[in-house]
Amino acid sequence: MVEIDLNRVEEIIGRYEGEEGVLIQMLLDLQSEFNWIPRGVIARISERLHIPKSQIYRIASFYKAMSLSPVGRHVIQVCLGTACQVRGAPRIMDRVKESLGIEEGETTQDMRFTLRRVNCLGCCAMGPVVVVDGDYHGKVTPSEVEDLLQSYK
Ligand code: FES
Repeated sequence: MVEIDLNRVEEIIGRYEGEEGVLIQMLLDLQSEFNWIPRGVIARISERLHIPKSQIYRIASFYKAMSLSPVGRHVIQVCLGTACQVRGAPRIMDRVKESLGIEEGETTQDMRFTLRRVNCLGCCAMGPVVVVDGDYHGKVTPSEVEDLLQSYK
């Protein structure tokens, strides 16, 4: 279970209390602070601002800049498209999962990494491809995975 600093949540909500039309900005501030918006935070906003939870969920799900599930400081995308698969991508994915102790779609407990699977990034000749925070790493081998992860603190 990912821990959230509730004092920070209260502080951010408090910045906007009593003001009209601040929900989106408040959610963006919370997103920027925690990298995601947990269920409990939505319940707290709803209580303090007297806004139905359903309305808050609707907004948080609509904006791509907001996430309702934990997202780590670094997002790793391992390509498992056909060309990358043929070049060994499943072994890269296994090594990343093993090293981080998480499955696809999950985030590490320390909120350092989120692991995602993608299907073709349009640079098949570089396969197998791993993208971390938008940086493309091509022709990755299983033995390089650990160093690659270590380079993202
Ligand atoms: S299949 Fe991986 S980049 Fe195309």
